[in-house]
Amino acid sequence: AGGGEQHIEDIQFSFEGPFGKFDQNQLQRGLKVFTEVCAACHGLKFVPFRTLSDEGGPGFTEDQVRAYAANFDVYDAELEDTRPAKPSDNFPANTGAGAPDLSLMAKARAGFHGPYGTGISQLFNGIGGPEYIASLLTGYTGHEKEEAGVTLYENTAFPGGWISMAPPLSGEDVEFDDGHSNSLHHEAEDVAAFLMWTAEPKMMARQHAGFVGVLFLTILSVLLYLTNKRIWAPVK
Ligand code: HEM
Repeated sequence: AGGGEQHIEDIQFSFEGPFGKFDQNQLQRGLKVFTEVCAACHGLKFVPFRTLSDEGGPGFTEDQVRAYAANFDVYDAELEDTRPAKPSDNFPANTGAGAPDLSLMAKARAGFHGPYGTGISQLFNGIGGPEYIASLLTGYTGHEKEEAGVTLYENTAFPGGWISMAPPLSGEDVEFDDGHSNSLHHEAEDVAAFLMWTAEPKMMARQHAGFVGVLFLTILSVLLYLTNKRIWAPVK
């Protein structure tokens, strides 16, 4: 309901939890939704094209990255003109429609604030940014209003309840190469997962390093405990 409580759906994403992993097929589907729908208004200016072939990402080959990047035009200061993008370029910024950049959006928004604003449910349900994005895309009620010449759309996930972004997805907006369902909910989840990857592309490497760190500290504790026993044994 507009103006009232925000409604965020809890989704079990593959990347949640200490051993979570991005689902490569899902990232490819989300990229497709971004390319064919969101990119019309939104930029991804912090994301270099070459990362599409990084480990843990959508898993493009270098040729696929080159072909994909060439679909975008970027401004080249040396040429003083635009040219097709190369893998070393970033996705272009896009400010024409007044839409915010989506590179870091999945981490800029929280999905779960409670209970009592403590954010404890974040700990159990995940950070909630991707859930927020998926809920935003599926949260339109169909009501609209004009305010100061701007059309606002009622949305149950958007803080305040009225957003100036028209519903970008309605289901069956894109055809997925893997034959996956392109219902509104699936498209929304896939693009939300893709935007989690753009915001945190090294998540899997970070979790892995953390796990190795904890393992190392555990072994070190055992060894130190035994060493300590040994050093003090004669004093007893
Ligand atoms: C805002 C996602 C397509 C125009 C936003 C926000 C997100 C988002 C997460 C930020 C909401 C917030 O501030 O909390 C997406 C996704 C799209 C998409 C995932 C594709 C599926 C589009 C398209 C347009 C558009 C095609 C233009 C026709 C805007 C505008 C805002 C916005 C103008 C600012 C809204 C406001 O603050 O009232 N979008 N968007 N978006 N988007 Fe999109």
